[in-house]
Amino acid sequence: MAYPLESLLRPAYELRAAAVSALAAAGVMTKPSAFLLTRELALGLAGVLICHATWRCFAGLRILRYRANLRRQRRYVVASEDIPWSADRLFLGRGFHWDQRHTQRLHEARLPEKQDLLKPGLIGRTTEFLRDLPPEHSAVGGDPAIHGVEPAESDIWMDISDRVGHTLVLGTTRVGKTRLAEVLLTQDIRRGEVVIVFDPKGDIDLLRRVYAEAKRAGRHNEFFMFHLGHPEVSARYNPVGSFSRITEVATRIAGQLPSEGQSAAFKEFVWRFVNVMARALVALGRKPDYEQINRYASNVEPLLIDYFEHWLDGESGAAGWREEVESMAIDKKSLDKGLQSRGFRAVTLVEYARRKKLYDPIANALASTLNYEKSYFDKLVASLLPLMEKLTTGRTAALLSPDLDDASDWRPVFDWASVINLGGIVYIGLDSLSDYEVAAAVGNSMFADLTSVAGSIYKFGTGRGLPGETPARRIAIHADEFNELIGDEFIPLLNKAGGAGFQVTAYTQTWSDVEARIGSLAKAGQIAGNFNTLIMLRVKEVATAELLTSQLPEVRIVSTIVSSSVSDTNDPGDFADFASRNEDRITTESAPMLAPSDLVQLPKGQAFALIHGGQLHKIRMPLPDASHDPLMPVSLEAIGSEVRGRMEGRSNPAP
Ligand SMILES: Nc1ncnc2c1ncn2[C@@H]1O[C@H](COP(=O)(O)OP(=O)(O)OP(=O)(O)O)[C@@H](O)[C@H]1O
Ligand SMILES: [Mg+2]
Repeated sequence: MAYPLESLLRPAYELRAAAVSALAAAGVMTKPSAFLLTRELALGLAGVLICHATWRCFAGLRILRYRANLRRQRRYVVASEDIPWSADRLFLGRGFHWDQRHTQRLHEARLPEKQDLLKPGLIGRTTEFLRDLPPEHSAVGGDPAIHGVEPAESDIWMDISDRVGHTLVLGTTRVGKTRLAEVLLTQDIRRGEVVIVFDPKGDIDLLRRVYAEAKRAGRHNEFFMFHLGHPEVSARYNPVGSFSRITEVATRIAGQLPSEGQSAAFKEFVWRFVNVMARALVALGRKPDYEQINRYASNVEPLLIDYFEHWLDGESGAAGWREEVESMAIDKKSLDKGLQSRGFRAVTLVEYARRKKLYDPIANALASTLNYEKSYFDKLVASLLPLMEKLTTGRTAALLSPDLDDASDWRPVFDWASVINLGGIVYIGLDSLSDYEVAAAVGNSMFADLTSVAGSIYKFGTGRGLPGETPARRIAIHADEFNELIGDEFIPLLNKAGGAGFQVTAYTQTWSDVEARIGSLAKAGQIAGNFNTLIMLRVKEVATAELLTSQLPEVRIVSTIVSSSVSDTNDPGDFADFASRNEDRITTESAPMLAPSDLVQLPKGQAFALIHGGQLHKIRMPLPDASHDPLMPVSLEAIGSEVRGRMEGRSNPAP
C-alpha cells in the first residue's frame, strides 16, 4: 500500500514491537503452562511470534540504517586499475536518479525537530569510537544527508554518444574538479581515444595521472607533454604554423590583443598587417611563426625585399629587373612622406614595380605599409609588439617557434592534425600563474588551431593526406580551469566540433568567471547552451548554482500539520460538556527540486549531474589513488627524462 507519507526519519518504533514479540516467544517457550498451552501449541505460537519479531526487526533496522546513512561521511577511493570503463559508456561514480522522493526526504532531514534523529545513538557512537576513523574521513565536509537520502546506490554511467554534446563541470576551489578530470580521462585513454588535456595552472598530479594512464594502456609512445613552465622537457608547438586558411594566422595573433582602449581601435589594422606578413611568408615557402612575425613587425622591409625579389623573379613583365633596379635613380623628395623614411632598397623595389605598372596583391599590400611614415606606423601596431615580444622572449621562444633544422634539439614538434592521426595523448601545461598573457595567447591559439583541424576533419575525415583509410577517432578534450582559457576561439570549437567527433569537457569554478572573461552575457549564454551535460560539485555562487537548479522542475512536498482543539459548552440542556479534536493534517506545497543552498552544502567529490537529456542524478565520484601506483611517475622531471629517452632512442636508432 502506498502511504501519502513515507516517514523514514523517525524513531524505529518497529523495534519495540519486535522486542515485545521476541519476549512473548521466549515466555511461551519457557513456561507454556502459564499460557494454558500444550508444548506443540506453544512451539507453533512461538514460531509465529518469532516470525513477527523478525519482520518488525527488519523494518526497524531499515529505519536505523536510513538514519545512519544520512550522517555517513563516505570516502570513495579507488586504485587506478579499478576505475571501471567501457567502450560505449562513461563511468561517473556511484549514485542514484534524484526524484521528488529525495527532495521530500532532504526537506524532512532539515526540519529542526528531526535534528536529534540525525545524531548517532549510543550504539552508533560506540562503533564510531571503536572503528577509530582516520581524520580524512570527515575531511570531505558538507552535508552527508544530501547523498544519504537514498540508501540504494548503483554505478552511474553516461552514454558516450552524449559526450559530443560537451560536458561542463562546475565547482568551487578544492572540491574535486581536477580529480574528476583524472577519472574521466583515465577512461578516455583506455578507450583508445585521442586525449588532449589543457591544464592552465599546471597541476602536477594531473600530469602524472595522464602519463601513468598512457603507460598503463600501453600508449606511452603516443604521449606528448607541452609545458610552458618547463621548456627543457616540453614538446614544441607552433601556434600559427598550421591552418586551413592563411587568414587564421592573423586572427590568432590579433585576437589576443586587448579589445578595450586604444589598441581596440587599431586591432583591424594590426590584423591586416599580420595577414600581409603571413601571406608573404607562405608565398616565400616559409612557415609563419611568432619569431618571424615579431621580427618583421618591428621592421617589415627585409620581408618586403625578399618578397619583391621572389615575385619579380617569376614575373614575366619584369625581365632584367635586377639591372634596372641597380641603375634606378630616385629623387627622395618626389616620394610620399612615408617612403622617405624607408630604406633605399625597399623604396627602389616599390618604385620599380610602380613605374612598370606591375601588380601583385601581396606586393601591393606590403608596399602599402611603407606609405605610412615609420614612426606613425609603429604607433599603429604598438599593441602588437609587446605581445610578440613576450611570446618570443626567453626559453619559451624555442618552444613556440620551433627550429625544424636544428638536429641537436631532441624535443618533438607536434601539430594537431598529426596528433589526431597518430591517436595521441597530449598534456598542455600553460603555467598561467607565471605569465597569464602568454598562457592565454598560446591556449587560445591552440583552440583556434584545433577548431580549424575540426573543420577539416568534418569536411574530409581524419587522415587527410595520409595513404589508406584512417579510422575515425573520437577526440576528448579536457579543459581544466576553463575560465582561464575561454576566448572567442572556444565558441566555434563547442558549436561545430561535435560533428568531427570532438567532445569537450570543461571544468571551472564559477560561471561568472567565464562571463567576465568573455565580456558579454549573450556570448556566455551561448557557450553555456552548448554544454548538454552539466556536472555540478559544491559551488559558492548562487548564479552558478542556478545554472543547474533553474533547469529543474518544481515538485510537491508533503508536510504534516498537527492540530488539537477543545471547545466546551455551558448549555445545561446539552448532554456534551466539551468536545476535543486531534488531527494530523497533510498539506502539499510546491518547492524547487533542488535549491541553490543544497549545492553549497555538497561534500567534496560529490555532485549533481544533469545527464541523459536532463535527468538529474546525485553522484559521488571516486578519488583515484595515486599513492600505491607503481606506474605513477614521481615528478615532472622523471616524465621528461623518460620522454627524452624515448625520443632519442627513436631519432638515433642504435647502430
Ligand atoms: N572524489 C573525492 N573524494 C574525496 N575527496 C576528494 C575527491 N575529489 C577531491 N577530493 C579532495 O579535494 C582535494 C582537491 O581536489 P581537486 O584538486 O580535484 O580540486 P579542484 O576542484 O580541482 O580545485 P582547484 O579549483 O583548486 O583546482 C583533493 O586533494 C582531495 O583531498
Ligand atoms: Mg583543479
